[in-house]
Amino acid sequence: MGLFTRSRGNGRDGAGIDKTKSNAPVDGFTSPLAPSNPAASAEEDSFDRETYNMVRRRVQELLLGSGDKAVENLTTQEAESVIRPIYEQVLTEEGLALSRQEKEEMFSAVLAELLGYGPIQPFLDDPTVTEIMVNGPHAIYVERHGKIEKTKARFQDDEHVMRIIERIVSPLGRRIDESSPMVDARLPDGSRVNAIIPPLALNGPTVTIRKFSKIPFTVDDFIRFGTFTEEFAMFAKAAVEARLNIIVSGGTGSGKTTTLNVLSAFIPHDERIITIEDSAELQLKQEHVVRLESRPPNIEGRGGVTIRDLVINALRMRPDRIIVGEVRGGEALDMLQAMNTGHDGSMTTAHSNGPRDTLARLETMALMAGMDLPLRAIRQQIASAIDLVIHQERMRDGSRRVVRVSEITGLEGDTILMQDIYVFQEEGLSGDRIIGRLQPSGIRPMVLDKIEAAHIHLPPEVLGLPGRRTLAF
Ligand SMILES: Nc1ncnc2c1ncn2[C@@H]1O[C@H](COP(=O)(O)OP(=O)(O)OP(=O)(O)O)[C@@H](O)[C@H]1O
Ligand SMILES: [Mg+2]
Repeated sequence: MGLFTRSRGNGRDGAGIDKTKSNAPVDGFTSPLAPSNPAASAEEDSFDRETYNMVRRRVQELLLGSGDKAVENLTTQEAESVIRPIYEQVLTEEGLALSRQEKEEMFSAVLAELLGYGPIQPFLDDPTVTEIMVNGPHAIYVERHGKIEKTKARFQDDEHVMRIIERIVSPLGRRIDESSPMVDARLPDGSRVNAIIPPLALNGPTVTIRKFSKIPFTVDDFIRFGTFTEEFAMFAKAAVEARLNIIVSGGTGSGKTTTLNVLSAFIPHDERIITIEDSAELQLKQEHVVRLESRPPNIEGRGGVTIRDLVINALRMRPDRIIVGEVRGGEALDMLQAMNTGHDGSMTTAHSNGPRDTLARLETMALMAGMDLPLRAIRQQIASAIDLVIHQERMRDGSRRVVRVSEITGLEGDTILMQDIYVFQEEGLSGDRIIGRLQPSGIRPMVLDKIEAAHIHLPPEVLGLPGRRTLAF
């Protein structure tokens, strides 16, 4: 089965993810205010960018040479008092005559760049870390290779964590304080950040960062990790090309969004794709993609745009495919309706404990749309809209794998009928690692009709079916 070539050996292994090349510039310091912060963009600076780069480099060299303890662990004020004299010295040595304003603005930029994100900066720079969890100042956990570990890193106090949160959210025009104690944000590199502070968070300011994978996983990576088998990858490709409506389900952090991204790579390049997300994580390879992102309401509770609003709007944008990052509420109903009215090939993810639970949750979410539809009508919508549920898990060995793939075969009375196409069979352990395989159930799935109608012919072994018999004379 040569459809999927083996890994190109890009250095990433199993459950571990070597995705982010450090965003540190060559000289070893990271710029937290890198390109996406408009405040740091060249157009708005009052000073000359080249001069700034030169000054910043000189300050860094002198700072490194001075043997002072790492500035990122100092409070902003302490760091300022260490860096200011060095900065002044560089200006004098280089004979730079700056206006007062230029001088102060350049100083702020240098400071911001040197301070980074404090004690968590090394984890942001470490490509093996995929998630960073700060539970108050003295407990910082990271996830590596799918497993959570406690680190020795610490913030000084709540105040120190708060400063880092502010450094993350303020360039985005958000704020965090007692009156708005929860915030979602993104780092300049795209990593997803959630922060929640006292009095809601009892441990102290709590930050969760899902690091953004700069190099998105491919189907080859998934086969290598054991997330997909080669057979399932072929089936999934056929399912996407044949425009089946697909829901990827699983627990928190089970890899749903990543799988959605891998599946989306199978969408033909001549289609118009609209993606809708709370925080844009999908990285589609196609050219004709329109990306939409919802917006939380402002402090006065106005101006919010929900996923649901965006789904409704997307229907007027002549989509060939609609991809919703995750359904959580009433948008499920709009999505089902879209799938039932000619927007085939749509995909989304949902939080659940198994394929059947996914359907139960969809029902609840559709009810949240508040349309007063009878349950049977909703089940009818689900049964005719959804073709496949791909369920995955973060297993106890830290690996993320597809564990069950089911199709919906109809509605009988009040019950939605489902049938398994693939089920993960655990075969044992090799050290810590779970050995097992996603096995085809050997039943001829009904969706095969749709796949064949799209002129896609899968070899029978992909589904564990007996080979086609040829007549012998
Ligand atoms: N197949 C995989 N193999 C190894 N690691 C993976 C795999 N899929 C995802 N990951 C890693 O697992 C983490 C969570 O992935 P992802 O964001 O896709 O999960 P999710 O289920 O969408 O989470 P959430 O419920 O928070 O939205 C990421 O760090 C990602 O790089
Ligand atoms: Mg997700």
